[in-house]
Amino acid sequence: MKLLLYAAKDYDIKYFKRVGEADFPEIELEFIEPELDPMTATLAKGYDAICAFVSADVGAETLNVLSECGVKAVLMRCAGYNNVDVERAHELGIAVKRVPAYSPESIAEHAMTLAMSVNRHIHKAYNKVRENDFTLKGLRGHQMYGKTAGIVGTGKIGAGMCRICHGFGMKVIAYDIYENPSLKDFVEYVSLDELYERSDLISLHCPLTDESYHMINIDSIKKMKNDVILVNTSRGALVDTEQLIEGIRMGKFLGVGLDVYEEETGNVYEDKSDEIMMHSVTSRLLSFPNVIITSHQAFYTKEAVISISQTTLQNMVDAMNGVSGPNDC
Ligand code: NAI
Repeated sequence: MKLLLYAAKDYDIKYFKRVGEADFPEIELEFIEPELDPMTATLAKGYDAICAFVSADVGAETLNVLSECGVKAVLMRCAGYNNVDVERAHELGIAVKRVPAYSPESIAEHAMTLAMSVNRHIHKAYNKVRENDFTLKGLRGHQMYGKTAGIVGTGKIGAGMCRICHGFGMKVIAYDIYENPSLKDFVEYVSLDELYERSDLISLHCPLTDESYHMINIDSIKKMKNDVILVNTSRGALVDTEQLIEGIRMGKFLGVGLDVYEEETGNVYEDKSDEIMMHSVTSRLLSFPNVIITSHQAFYTKEAVISISQTTLQNMVDAMNGVSGPNDC
C-alpha cells in the first residue's frame, strides 16, 4: 500500500520512516514538500492514501482530484480536521482519519513553559546575560505557589494543565461545558466570569467554536485581575487580538504567552526571516516586552511526533482494510 505525505518537514520524514520501517513494512512511503491543494492533489496519482496537516486545503475541489487519482483515504496527521470537507470525502468513498490525541501533556507542558517564561522574563534574561548585563532590572517575577490558575476547557490538554498547576501548589479553578470527573479531587468548577475574576493565570484549552470565538475580548479582559498571565495554546481566534492589545496597553497583564494567534496562517512552520512582515497586528504584539509568541510548537516533542507517526500509519492499515474506529472523521 502506497502513502504520499504532503508538506513533509524533516522531522516528519525522520519519524515516519523510522516507525514505518520498524512496524509497518507493508506501507510504501513517499514524502513531498508542497502543501496539498487542488493543484498539487494531482501528484497523488498511483497512491492509495495521502497524509496532510493542519494548513492543507482538503476541500471539495481537492477531494475531487484525489478521487480521480484513485486515492482511497485522507489521513490527517493532527487532531483537527476543520480544513477537510468530510461530507464530500464520504460522498466520494474516501475515508478520513485523524490522530485525536498525541501526548496532550506535551501541549500542557508548553503552556506552563510560556506562563513561567513571561512570569520570570526568561526571554529578557537570556539576552541580558549574553550581553554581560548581570543586573536584575526588569526581571522581577511573581511566585506561582498559592496563586489561582483558571483553566478554560478541561479535556485531555486542559486536564494535563490542571495537574501541572496543582503540582505547582496553585489553587486550580476551571470552566468547561462538561466537568471532567478525573479532576474532582483538586479542581473547582466555576462560571467563566468567576474564572476571569479570580485567576492569576488563565490558560485556554477549549476548541474554537462559534461560542468560544473571541471569548477573550475587552469585556472579558476588564473582568480579569490586574497582573494576570494569559496563555493560549489552543486556537488563535479564541482571542480578539486587537482587544488583547488594548488590554496590554491598559497594563492588565503581567504577561501573555501565545503559541497560536489569529494571523498565524501563512507563518506557521515557514522561515520568513528575510521578509518584511506585513501583518501589523502581530508585529504590534511582538513589540510588547511582556508578550512571548511561539509558532504552534506546543505539540512538538519527540514523544508526540512518534505517536503521530504510529497512529497515522495504523490509520492507513485500517483504512485499506475497511476498518472503522474512533479515529474516523
Ligand atoms: P479535548 O476535546 O480533549 O478537550 C476540549 C475541552 O474543551 C472539552 O472538555 C470540551 O468540553 C471543552 N469545551 C468545548 N467548548 C468549550 C467552551 N466553549 N468553553 C469551555 N470549554 C469548552 O481537546 P484537547 O485535545 O484537550 O485539545 C484542546 C485544544 O488544543 C484543541 O481544540 C486544539 O485547538 C488545541 N491544540 C493545540 C495544539 C498546539 O500544538 N498548539 C496541538 C493540539 C491541540
